[in-house]
Amino acid sequence: MKTLLRGGYVVSGRGCRRADVLIDGEKVEMLGHIPPELAAQSEVVDVTGCMLFPGFIDAHTHFDLDVCNTTTADDFESGSKSAIRGGTTTVIDFACPNKGESLAYGLDLWHKKADGKCYCDYGFHMTIDDWNETIEREIDDMYAEGISSFKMYMTYPAMMIGDEAMYKALKKLKEKGGICGVHCENSGVIDALVAEKKAKGENAVSCHPQTRPDYLEAEAVGRILRIAQAAEAPVVIVHTTNAAALSEIDQARTRGQVVYSETCPQYLALDDSVYYQEDWLSSAKFVCSPPIRKKADQDALWAGLKEGRVNTVSTDHCSFTTQQKLVGQGDFTTIPGGLPGVETRGEVVYTTGVAAGRIDLPTLCRALSENPAKLYGLYPRKGVLAPGSDADIVIYDPGDSHVIRAEDCVANVDYNPYEGFVTAGGIREVWLRGRKTVENGKVLDTVPAGMYLARGKCDL
Ligand code: URP
Ligand code: ZN
Ligand code: ZN
Repeated sequence: MKTLLRGGYVVSGRGCRRADVLIDGEKVEMLGHIPPELAAQSEVVDVTGCMLFPGFIDAHTHFDLDVCNTTTADDFESGSKSAIRGGTTTVIDFACPNKGESLAYGLDLWHKKADGKCYCDYGFHMTIDDWNETIEREIDDMYAEGISSFKMYMTYPAMMIGDEAMYKALKKLKEKGGICGVHCENSGVIDALVAEKKAKGENAVSCHPQTRPDYLEAEAVGRILRIAQAAEAPVVIVHTTNAAALSEIDQARTRGQVVYSETCPQYLALDDSVYYQEDWLSSAKFVCSPPIRKKADQDALWAGLKEGRVNTVSTDHCSFTTQQKLVGQGDFTTIPGGLPGVETRGEVVYTTGVAAGRIDLPTLCRALSENPAKLYGLYPRKGVLAPGSDADIVIYDPGDSHVIRAEDCVANVDYNPYEGFVTAGGIREVWLRGRKTVENGKVLDTVPAGMYLARGKCDL
């Protein structure tokens, strides 16, 4: 039997219009006025007054990652459950081989971590944290496996590969039509600033943002963009946090380069006062890299989103429990870095963006769904509600409201960075490929139904 979602407003990257949605199996069959004979054969779901978004895509998660001498609190089971509860029907996680391991090994490991455990659909980016002839050859194999996007780091000794290797990698990816995200921070100067703090015996959590300032992120953004200029390759600046970094992106675009920019809810909705709380643990919960910045940076990011200079909002979901954060008590550099966010992204960005009048609904739709689908080779199967697309649907009730609380969340974390946040509107239901999987905050599926998505090339 077909399903008819009746009475809602369908949101796309271009607008928002009154339209009913007919679902047949896993796909959207028709939108708009549905002929009565088809409606009569369908189960009707009343969504009057709700907005229907194409399922959100979070293109930046770290589930089941061994990092900072521990493992992230969320694996693919709890992470993907948390995702779908928050309206995210697709995640793209970072497969991450260690230096010395092959990309094939890394990919196989990530399939073992994820396959059969996901409550939403999923794909992988491949991390390039080593560069040699074997890895260069393996890049070709990755496309056959549905991996069309990669990631490089300009910080973290275990992951960074240096300017020459990044140049060579970008050239290779350009040849293949691939796209690469880059974590931009100047590692060397950060190390020196950290050493200075330690020499002075300073160890407050606030040392974390003080040793990773905005301009050292901007320097790395400027550098990778010059390297990309030399390689004549496009690049994605992941988790852009501040005005100076955004200005580097603007300059590269003015030179004619193809640059995409991602930011995250924590950089849009929070500011660096989180690191100056009296209680050490309260501040440590917000440690992530790059750190959360100033109010003026938030404003710059919102303006960038509104003007299309920031293309996507993903979460960088990399969760640790308070117990795990406590490990860093004696040394601020050992606080596991990362925040949970995949469960709250849609409601936090709707509330602070759309309801606050900073962006409109199509911009939200582009940032959370359409642009990641296009950028990472999933469009138009994902990222739009159109005939033939997957019936991944977020039914958002603008008249609803609730308070975000860790105890209500399904992420495997005992705190939430948005604890006490009052949402404007709320997710009523989430549908994954034609099936209702979330209703009023409850994940209905008891068995993981997410499937691996082999992805095509960038189309943004
Ligand atoms: O602190 C963070 N963001 N950890 C996750 C890994 C990364 O840098 O993206
Ligand atoms: Zn990063
Ligand atoms: Zn990340």
